[in-house]
Amino acid sequence: METTIYYFSATGNSLYSARSLSRALKDVRLISIPSALDRREFSSDADRIGLIFPLHYGGLPILVEDFVRQLSMPHVKYLFAIATCGVPYLGRPFTDLNELLNGRRLDAAWFLRLVSNYLMLRDTAADWRIRIRYWLADRKLDKIARAITDGQTHETWELRKDGCRRMHDAWEARRSTLDEKFIVDRAKCVKCGLCEKICPVKNILRPDGSPTWNHHCVECLGCLNVCPKRAIDCGDITRGRKRYIHWKIAPRDLLYQ
Ligand SMILES: Cc1cc2nc3c(=O)[nH]c(=O)nc-3n(C[C@H](O)[C@H](O)[C@H](O)COP(=O)(O)O)c2cc1C
Ligand code: SF4
Ligand code: SF4
Repeated sequence: METTIYYFSATGNSLYSARSLSRALKDVRLISIPSALDRREFSSDADRIGLIFPLHYGGLPILVEDFVRQLSMPHVKYLFAIATCGVPYLGRPFTDLNELLNGRRLDAAWFLRLVSNYLMLRDTAADWRIRIRYWLADRKLDKIARAITDGQTHETWELRKDGCRRMHDAWEARRSTLDEKFIVDRAKCVKCGLCEKICPVKNILRPDGSPTWNHHCVECLGCLNVCPKRAIDCGDITRGRKRYIHWKIAPRDLLYQ
């Protein structure tokens, strides 16, 4: 069976999961959603298709919504989705996907708990906790791979759906202001350009080597987490908080430019 997995990943959790499933399922094409959007590639002939992405405000990342709205899958027989997250089951990513899929419904959906990269809410989990989460996530990925291989259907709980829709809508309504609190500490910045290269929407320019943000941010938090000098913050709230990238993913795997 020919499989395509579309993924979006700012800090590696979803990319790690996509790679892990690719190894287990074999014969998989892995396609990054920002690249597919850039190339305007919205059609897949695969008969098995997966979507793997982070949970954002209890719902879909903005880029995943933009992509799925345009996706055409004329031959798909089995369609699955995985939302990587810090807290599973709270949100409505799969309900929202089903609404966007133009009549096609997901055959299987899973939340996959990893580590939250949302530093505005709280500090990154302690290393011992991350180790446990990775171990549990690997067990769950094994199960998911078996279920997909067998073509099983799978539904999952989605809790607090109404509240999450309000929260997600309010977030999207603020889209042009999502980066307004980002700041760079020019004394720390070494002008390496990683923040610019990781941005999936080319929102970062570096007129004098350090980043400026240009108000079409999708708040993936890639720039803030990946900066090797921790020179980027969101106001004062992220100061001193530990940055996060999945331990088995290198920053170069996450670059878009
Ligand atoms: C803007 C934003 C909103 C988020 N909202 C949620 C959320 O509602 N629930 C949750 O469990 N995790 C949330 N997270 C954490 C991510 O879903 C989680 O870290 C994810 O695994 C990151 O995947 P990635 O490393 O592939 O980017 C959020 C992260 C960001 C950047
Ligand atoms: S990643 Fe950090 S150090 Fe590199 S250019 Fe961006 S802000 Fe400066
Ligand atoms: S500016 Fe930073 S947070 Fe916003 S989309 Fe680009 S990389 Fe993500």
